[in-house]
Amino acid sequence: MCGIIGYIGQKDLCSVLLDGLKKLEYRGYDSAGIAVIQGGEIIKRRVKGKISALEQELKSSPIRGEYGIAHTRWATHGRPSEENAHPHQDCKGNIVVVHNGIIENYLQLKQELINQGHRFNTETDTEIIPHTIEKHFRGNLEQAVGKAVQELKGAFAIAVVCSQDRNKVVVARKGPPMVVGIGKNEYIISSDINPLLNHTRDIVFLQDREIGVVQPTGIRFSSFSGKPLEKKAERVSWNPVMIEKGGYKHFMLKEIFEQPQVMRDTLKGRISLDEGDVHLDEIGILKKDLNQISRIVIIACGTSFNAGLIGKYFLETIAGIPVEIEYASEYRYKDFIADQNALFIFISQSGETADTLAALREVIKKDLMTMAVCNVKNSSITREAKGVLLTHAGPEIGVAATKTFTAQMSALALLALYIAQIKKKMNKEQRLGYIQELQRIPHQMENILNKVRSIEAAALDFISYSHFLYLGRWVNYPVAREGALKLKEISYIHAEAYPGGEMKHGPIALIDEKMPTMVIAPRDRVIDKVLSNISEVKARLGTVVAVSNQDQKELSDKVDKVINIPEIHELFSPFLTAIPVQLFAYYIAAERGADVDQPRNLAKSVTVE
Ligand code: M6R
Repeated sequence: MCGIIGYIGQKDLCSVLLDGLKKLEYRGYDSAGIAVIQGGEIIKRRVKGKISALEQELKSSPIRGEYGIAHTRWATHGRPSEENAHPHQDCKGNIVVVHNGIIENYLQLKQELINQGHRFNTETDTEIIPHTIEKHFRGNLEQAVGKAVQELKGAFAIAVVCSQDRNKVVVARKGPPMVVGIGKNEYIISSDINPLLNHTRDIVFLQDREIGVVQPTGIRFSSFSGKPLEKKAERVSWNPVMIEKGGYKHFMLKEIFEQPQVMRDTLKGRISLDEGDVHLDEIGILKKDLNQISRIVIIACGTSFNAGLIGKYFLETIAGIPVEIEYASEYRYKDFIADQNALFIFISQSGETADTLAALREVIKKDLMTMAVCNVKNSSITREAKGVLLTHAGPEIGVAATKTFTAQMSALALLALYIAQIKKKMNKEQRLGYIQELQRIPHQMENILNKVRSIEAAALDFISYSHFLYLGRWVNYPVAREGALKLKEISYIHAEAYPGGEMKHGPIALIDEKMPTMVIAPRDRVIDKVLSNISEVKARLGTVVAVSNQDQKELSDKVDKVINIPEIHELFSPFLTAIPVQLFAYYIAAERGADVDQPRNLAKSVTVE
């Protein structure tokens, strides 16, 4: 939530900062601002609205600077407005700060600062930061920042510039991510690596309670307590092309179409058809430790949670281990059982989700076996978990998760096979059977994507409804949940998901001609039950659209629309059923003119509680 960018170098400052903000916009998009230093003076521009509004403002009122910082905001404290937009400043306007996170003790600090004569202009928690730095400032910015951050409670990543201690940007982190890119005679600071890729792939990742001082002559790091730190840049494998739209109207559509490749990339190098083996030694947990686990707990949020629900079926069916799945936001406050024989898996695209990270830390405190399934190498969750299984989805820019869902399912299927192999739960032929099924899936996905026009046509019949029910059973109940989540988050249509068998216990009362039902109905062990659920909906005048590979005749007699998928092993059908539900939501949202890639009120990476 919120994006920070800063630059010291030879390129055109405002262009670099604006371009960086555009690449960070998916982190927050309700207001934006920029501050540059020119000849010892700080010049700011701030606007309510998206980066395009800031761009307009800079066109009509241009500024130039030697170095500077900028921010795109997702409001927590204080409504979206120009005065609440970052950067915020101290009393004299000498110190300006951009911030990502929440300062939990800001009311208390604000009162103390007011008592000391500081004047505030905004409703934000952030504004206390420049004032606290001002209080400690004796001519050296990093020393003042070092003192100030020790007074702050909560989560923060900040970037600070000061007209009285020039040619430096000071950054600090406790919680939300902060990275520094090292280019040729230039430094770019940012809350995530995407904006850096056009400039460099050599990146230093700040850790919690670290401060960085970025100057034209170099960078140095210290702990909050002032102890100097040696930090090395790491080379990232992502490249700038990965974060372009590539001719698609929206990132979400591009990312849906990337799913066959994402699955191939996530399987690549990890399966062997000759031996019928899965190779996951890379995860960093010893085979002997995995061999002794008798229980798995999966912890995640949102789409990652839905992928975890599917992973539960993979792990229980293939590896024969009982799996529980919990929302991270609940688990972190729970008196959970410190089971030494359990593996705790944390699924997160970003690796920065505050609730998932906090739950991970609770589990680490009890010295239990933890593992991350994550898309971002070097993210907080990958650094703190004992084991790491990376999903190779590449950067996901659309706020709605799509390709990372597929990558997470792929990783969990691999993990299930790996554990089954270690625990000798199945023979080589059985494993090989599953591996071959997985390998076939990307091609089957392509078959669905090649018929995208028929899915678009189906979706366009449903754009004017205000409510939707999604039904699925067994391994496709989580897909129904994911379909409903996609529809509500990008089109703002109310959608609820239920396991088909639960409908008669309440939700069936909602069915009428104004409430269509999307049914996920691949041919599997529960298809007859799902067909009965469809009949129950039709008997109550509901409209039904089904995602299915069931015999055409049998299904088309019963439902209003069918979106066809190819034949697939029943356990792995979510890999295919997920794609039509993503596209269905996408086309409805796009046709309704919704802001598909940046839905209202959301942000890609939820780094606050
Ligand atoms: O980065 P994470 O996977 O930890 O994010 C968790 C959720 O915020 C995320 O999956 C969210 O639900 C999706 N972006 C919705 O499409």
